[in-house]
Amino acid sequence: MLNIFRKTAKIILPKSTVYSIKRQIEENGFKRYVREKLESNYRSVNPGAVPPKELIAQTAALNEQELERQSNSDVYFETGYFEVLRLFKILDHFNINPRTIGSIYELGCGTARLLRHFRYIDGVRLVGSDVNPQMIEWCQANLPEIEFYHNELTPPLAFAEDNSFDLMLASSVFTHIPLETQELWLAEMQRVLRPGGIFICSVLGQFHANALLDSEEMQKLQTKGNLTLTSDDSQATYSTRVGGSAWDVFQTRSEVIKVFGSFFQIVDYIPGVQDFLVLYKPVPAVSVVMNSVPFPAQKY
Ligand SMILES: C[S@@+](CC[C@H](N)C(=O)[O-])C[C@H]1O[C@@H](n2cnc3c(N)ncnc32)[C@H](O)[C@@H]1O
Repeated sequence: MLNIFRKTAKIILPKSTVYSIKRQIEENGFKRYVREKLESNYRSVNPGAVPPKELIAQTAALNEQELERQSNSDVYFETGYFEVLRLFKILDHFNINPRTIGSIYELGCGTARLLRHFRYIDGVRLVGSDVNPQMIEWCQANLPEIEFYHNELTPPLAFAEDNSFDLMLASSVFTHIPLETQELWLAEMQRVLRPGGIFICSVLGQFHANALLDSEEMQKLQTKGNLTLTSDDSQATYSTRVGGSAWDVFQTRSEVIKVFGSFFQIVDYIPGVQDFLVLYKPVPAVSVVMNSVPFPAQKY
């Protein structure tokens, strides 16, 4: 009797409760991990404000249903903790302890969903920029410990000197930068990253191609190596259709490796919901001799 009950009984929890439990799990896991890694460089921080729905709509949503979920404050924090923990683990894979990072820059920071969670590193300089002035105004008003700047659709980044950052991020940003300016942006990112620094960025991989493209578009992508959907295309992501960005940019893995690899050493290509690239700016040869082994090994 008990077995039958176990098989048939379903506990239906309200969505809000599920979101809250999932956020707690991610938040606790994130804090446990960073506290252990950062030791005395760990500082406890307030998670910060949740942005208004209009801003979330412009940054995070694949479709209308997704927008409802993403606009929930617990989901906003859950995804932030989850993704930043993943970034910490990527760094760890390359033996980089976040304690050793002095400065971090995020291109296309949006509402600082990710950047805010790097405040746990005591003493780190955090800088974010975005092409959308509304995002920057909101961030400046709500996250005073981080430097935020507006940037134009094309480089340069007026606020950044050559070789100024140890770690740079662009999560879900090159996915929206039109191909005509992609190389200009890669050259600019190369300019501001310090030699020996790491740049982690994402591109739309197979997951998004399968989710959004029809067979004709998939064929075009394979033949040409890239495909762009604009805000007029019905298959474009919700965020692109509501004007958060004007383009969804798809590239095949081999095109990504060719283009991004002509500006950086590609040390890893991690497929997923978006594919993540770990890019490295080599130290000039003379320093490499003095510092012994070049890091990390080139994979592509
Ligand atoms: C999908 S959102 C991601 C936001 C944030 N990285 C995150 O993961 O929550 C893409 C962001 O990139 C910004 N963006 C697009 N093109 C950009 C460019 N050329 N320079 C700076 N920001 C850009 C958009 O305004 C938007 O805030």
